[in-house]
Amino acid sequence: MSENIVLPPQAGKAEKYEALLPQMEALMASETDLIANMANMAAVLKEVFGFFWVGFYLVKKEQLVLGPFQGPLACTRLGYGKGVCGKAWETKQTQLIPDVDAFPGHIACSSASRSEIVVPILNAGVVLGVLDIDSDRLADFDGIDQKYLEKMVSLIPVPVED
Ligand code: SME
Repeated sequence: MSENIVLPPQAGKAEKYEALLPQMEALMASETDLIANMANMAAVLKEVFGFFWVGFYLVKKEQLVLGPFQGPLACTRLGYGKGVCGKAWETKQTQLIPDVDAFPGHIACSSASRSEIVVPILNAGVVLGVLDIDSDRLADFDGIDQKYLEKMVSLIPVPVED
């Protein structure tokens, strides 16, 4: 397994995501453990894009429970339909929030967070968890982030039901 992520110099956001996808695919394919893969994905996204907070919440007993993350201390449990993460869980849709203060019910784990994107992780139509990324800048996420982050989470090998 390669232990370094290689990106083209001076790459723009879409180019970085494009270069990252196959490397992330290889990284995910070399490991089956969900937590290990989420931990590496959070680390790579934080390192490459410098986001304020990158992490996962996992569905456990009717709550989203904090999983692997990079960044400051965060809330540990979130309810179904509550906040941006709970809304992504409820709707099974990515939530792209340019201004968290304008989102009714936003849960502020950090007062520095200004914008946010939350991508649900689906396995056969069931939400296993979410990828949550916070920025300390307004409107820091757009359709490019949504497109590539949705592809990114689809690379995480999910537990196979038998
Ligand atoms: N802001 C999120 C809570 C999680 S933290 O951002 C890490 C929300 O409203 O669901």
